[in-house]
Amino acid sequence: MTYSRIIGTGSALPTRLVTNHELAQTVDTSDEWITTRTGIRQRYLAEESQTTSDLALEASRQALDQAGVSVDELDLIIVATTTPDQVFPSTACLLQNKLGNKGATAFDIQAVCSGFVYALATADSFIRAGQARTALVVGAETLSRILDWQDRSTCVLFGDGAGAVVLRAGDQPGILASTLHADGSYSDILAAPGKMCGGKIVGNPFVEMDGQAVFKFAVKVLDDVARETVDKAGLALSDIDWLIPHQANLRILDSTAKKLGIPTERVVVTVDRHANTSAASIPLALDTAVRDGRIKPGDKVLLEGVGGGFTWGAVLVQM
Ligand code: ACO
Repeated sequence: MTYSRIIGTGSALPTRLVTNHELAQTVDTSDEWITTRTGIRQRYLAEESQTTSDLALEASRQALDQAGVSVDELDLIIVATTTPDQVFPSTACLLQNKLGNKGATAFDIQAVCSGFVYALATADSFIRAGQARTALVVGAETLSRILDWQDRSTCVLFGDGAGAVVLRAGDQPGILASTLHADGSYSDILAAPGKMCGGKIVGNPFVEMDGQAVFKFAVKVLDDVARETVDKAGLALSDIDWLIPHQANLRILDSTAKKLGIPTERVVVTVDRHANTSAASIPLALDTAVRDGRIKPGDKVLLEGVGGGFTWGAVLVQM
C-alpha cells in the first residue's frame, strides 16, 4: 500500500509589516476593535512588485530544503490560491518555472481559504494512485490586492503570505484521512464577485462578506468535518496532538477547539501575527509549529479549512 507523508515544510511572509495601530491611521478602526473581535494584531502586505508566485517560491524553497529534495525530483506541483499572478498560466506553472522544474504536473486549486486542504488531499490521491511520487503543495496569496482598503469590515481581517509542504510516497502513513465538502448555495456570504469581461472589470472586484453568517457557518462545519475525518481514520479526537484550523479569527479558532474538546494549548494559533492569509494560513501555521519544535515526528495533526464557496475540509496527518 502506498501512502504520502509530509517530509518538509516552509513559509514566507512579505517584509512590509502593518500593525493595527498603523492601519487605524488610514481606516476608521482601532487596535482595540480588531484585537477583541478577531485576535489579529498585525498583517504583512506584499510590495507592488511582489506576486503570489514570488511568495510561493520562497516558501517552496524552504520546504524543499528541509525535505532534502531537489527541484528535479518533483513530479507534481499544486498551488492553492485565490489571488493568482494572472488569469493564466496558472500560478503553479509560473512557480514551476521560477523553481527550474520541467515536466511535473502543475495546476492551481481555487477553494479560497480551504484551498490548502483541497490541494493536500488532491496530492495525496495522486500519490496513493501511483500518479506522482514527490509533490510540492503550496498555499499562497496576495489577498491585499482584492481588498477595498476603505472597507473597514473586511480590510482589517486579511494579509499576504505563503506556506508549502513536500509530500513523498512511502509505505508508512502519512496522511491518515481527508474529507472535502462544498455548498455553493452559500456563495453570497463571502465573495469577490467582479469578473474580467471585454478588457474591463465588471462588478465589485473586492471581497464582500456577511461577517456574522460566515462566523456561524465556519464554527459549525469546522466541528463537523473534524469529527468526520477523525472517525474515518478510526481514531478519537483525544488522539489528536495538534489542531490547525484555518487562521481566520481567534474567536472562530477558540469556539472550534471548545466544541471539539481540544485544549487551547493543543491548537496552533498564528492569526495574531499575519491575519487571515486565506489558502496560505494553514501551511504557515504548520511550518511555524514544526520549526519551533512543537510539532514532532509521529505527532497526529488535524488541518482544517473553511472558505468562500462555501468550501470546507480536513486532512489528518501523521508527521
Ligand atoms: N473597526 C471598527 N468598527 C467596525 C469595524 C472595524 N474594522 N468593522 C465593523 N465595525 C463596526 C460596524 O460598522 C458595526 O457598527 P454599528 O454597530 O455602528 O453598525 C459594529 O462594528 C459591529 O459590526 P458587526 O459586523 O456586527 O461586528 P461583529 O461583532 O459581527 O464582528 C467580524 C465582525 C469580526 C467580521 C465578525 O463577524 C467575524 O469574525 N466574522 C467572521 C468573519 C471572518 O473571519 N471572515 C474571514 C474570511 S472567511 C474565512 O476565512 C472562512
